[in-house]
Amino acid sequence: MSIQVLDKTFVPYLSEQEIQNRINQLALQISKDFEGKNPLFIGILNGSFMFASDLYKDISIPSTISFIKLVSYKGTSSSGTVITSIGLEEDLSDRHVIIVEDIVDTGKTMSSFIPSLQKLQPASVTICTLLHKPDALQFPLTLDYIGFVIPDKFVVGYGLDYDGYGRNFREIFQIKQPS
Ligand code: IMP
Ligand code: MG
Repeated sequence: MSIQVLDKTFVPYLSEQEIQNRINQLALQISKDFEGKNPLFIGILNGSFMFASDLYKDISIPSTISFIKLVSYKGTSSSGTVITSIGLEEDLSDRHVIIVEDIVDTGKTMSSFIPSLQKLQPASVTICTLLHKPDALQFPLTLDYIGFVIPDKFVVGYGLDYDGYGRNFREIFQIKQPS
């Protein structure tokens, strides 16, 4: 059954069950890989709030979680867009950081954020993204955990929005191509 968000129509793409099953697998793998490492999960707001919540419920090792908002603006330097985080109060030294993202599209957000995170000298930085659109990737980036590799089509639901709307769905919908 298709749904309407603002002026666009979307069709079902990933069901609640498919999403939850995949998250169980990711959490199992991460819990295994970070056993004894006391990782710090950092959820990127707003998009990852549902994913981070469900993923973290399935994590079985001692760990902590925090959330940040990334803000991008045009820097005065020649480097162009600068991404800074709001709300990161944790001491990252010697922490194994696991970034929890909803989707990596062009990779611009993550590839600009990682260097500023590295400056805080964490023990390691790992990226865990629910969705990845490899065909849209423009910035070099290593993604350690990927929930689903998807085509370069706009999606909403499960935290992902279209102009702020559509985040509330338990499943993920894909934009309906004009026929
Ligand atoms: P990137 O910097 O191009 O990788 O894009 C990152 C951000 O763009 C994501 O965190 C999302 O907020 C947003 N985004 C990219 N593709 C989609 C989509 O298909 N649906 C909703 N948001 C998206
Ligand atoms: Mg986002």
